[in-house]
Amino acid sequence: MSLEKITWEYKGFTLFRDVTKETLDVLPDFQIRDDDIVVASFPKTGTNWLLEMVTKILRAAGKTDSSADDLIGPGPIEVKIPTATQPGYVTLADMPSPRLVVTHLPIELAPKGISKPQNKVKILVPMRNPKDTAVSLYHFGNKIFKLMGLKDDIPWEGFAQKFTNGKVPYGPFEDHVLGWWKMRDDPHFLFLKYEDMKKDLLSAVKTIVAFLEVDLDESTIKGIAEASTFNNMKVDMDNSKVAERRAIARKGIIGDWKNMFTPEQSEAFDAWYEEKFSGTGITFDFE
Ligand code: A3P
Repeated sequence: MSLEKITWEYKGFTLFRDVTKETLDVLPDFQIRDDDIVVASFPKTGTNWLLEMVTKILRAAGKTDSSADDLIGPGPIEVKIPTATQPGYVTLADMPSPRLVVTHLPIELAPKGISKPQNKVKILVPMRNPKDTAVSLYHFGNKIFKLMGLKDDIPWEGFAQKFTNGKVPYGPFEDHVLGWWKMRDDPHFLFLKYEDMKKDLLSAVKTIVAFLEVDLDESTIKGIAEASTFNNMKVDMDNSKVAERRAIARKGIIGDWKNMFTPEQSEAFDAWYEEKFSGTGITFDFE
């Protein structure tokens, strides 16, 4: 099975085939509200982890009754939550505030309201080192292929190269990441590195709580951090009623790329990384 069968090219990006042109035509004008909370991410960088934490924070603050399970459902992520048979953005349009919106789209294709400086919407952007992101995407892709009823596996051989060539869903990675990164000085944006969250989850939860401007006491914050560790989240995710969510919690570590990359793949990847990210202000931890 090749990735080309489930992707298509649009305006310089490789998109999952279920994200249609019809959707992409209307999304730029999708109405974003000031009290929306948006998670905008490249796949496998910690999207669900952040969604889970944001949901827990909003629940603890009495701002929602939903759990992350109610929010994420099957289908491609364009702008959605919850999803139904109709595109997520259609369902979302009728939802009461505050809405939690998730998108894997690059900033160029996302609703324009997200990046308008005068809007008050809050946007959280997880970021993860591209080697671990590639490995996570590879494993997830194979699980999703099975859920789609496709029999063959995606081979690892050639996958890292596809990633650096931008030929994986939502790629090129560098264009996606650097596009959102342009908003780094806008106070409505919060960039969170996967590796930092791993190393100090409590601080990450505190940062998110402050960013969302909710009032929670120290013990509630500690409880949310504890419930958001990989092991604790995995229990919930593995028991989810949504098959896609059961595919998400895999290893949850930094450096799993070392189990997959050959020295040659690693060297080629490093050269690509250096070329694309040096001088951009973005540094990723690979260990
Ligand atoms: P791995 O496949 O490397 O394990 P996304 O939500 O953007 O699809 O990202 C999925 C990745 O985040 C998976 O990485 C998954 O295991 C990891 N993840 C999910 N919850 C996590 C948590 N609480 N702590 C650390 N990693 C987590």
